[in-house]
Amino acid sequence: MQRRHLLLAGLGSLAGLALVGPSRLVLAQACAAAPTEPNIEGPFYRPGAPFRSRLVGEMASAPLVISGRVTDAACRPLRGTTIELWQADEHGEYDLDGDRYRGIVRCDANGIFRVETIVPGRYLNGGAYRPAHLHAKVHANGRPVLTTQLYFPGDPQNDSDPWFRPSLLLASGPSPCCYVPNQPHRMTFQFVV
Ligand SMILES: [Fe+2]
Repeated sequence: MQRRHLLLAGLGSLAGLALVGPSRLVLAQACAAAPTEPNIEGPFYRPGAPFRSRLVGEMASAPLVISGRVTDAACRPLRGTTIELWQADEHGEYDLDGDRYRGIVRCDANGIFRVETIVPGRYLNGGAYRPAHLHAKVHANGRPVLTTQLYFPGDPQNDSDPWFRPSLLLASGPSPCCYVPNQPHRMTFQFVV
């Protein structure tokens, strides 16, 4: 391969490469441009959850830390965003009387959030188990509320669930691989609204 072709191949492999004007190259910030898909609210939403970044008081059996960002389609952080989260407990039960495993998380000025919870249990819906999931409502200033759900890669119920969407899979965080007792699963997700 000629030297010029090698140079072009190398440039083309850079993520987010964009041409601006006839002679200027600008590296754009990597961005998940597609808006996050909405998903059903389900029957267990309760408004008025407390503001907190930990959805349960005591350390539970399958701790989970989810971190990520909320941005617009151009990767600009949406400061002032809040995320309502609600989920089943480890037995697949929702707290219908209180706020166990419910909470509202605030994003910082860079749109970054972090929440501590547990891996939710699966529950029967009709004759089939739903895959493990969390429910979310993303409130970004001046934008329609995004109601969606987050799913776990590798859950055997994903493929048979009518509401599962691959785009809503959590990604493994800095410590991928296997569950280690007393060490939290670390997952990430970027909301685009
Ligand atoms: Fe649910």
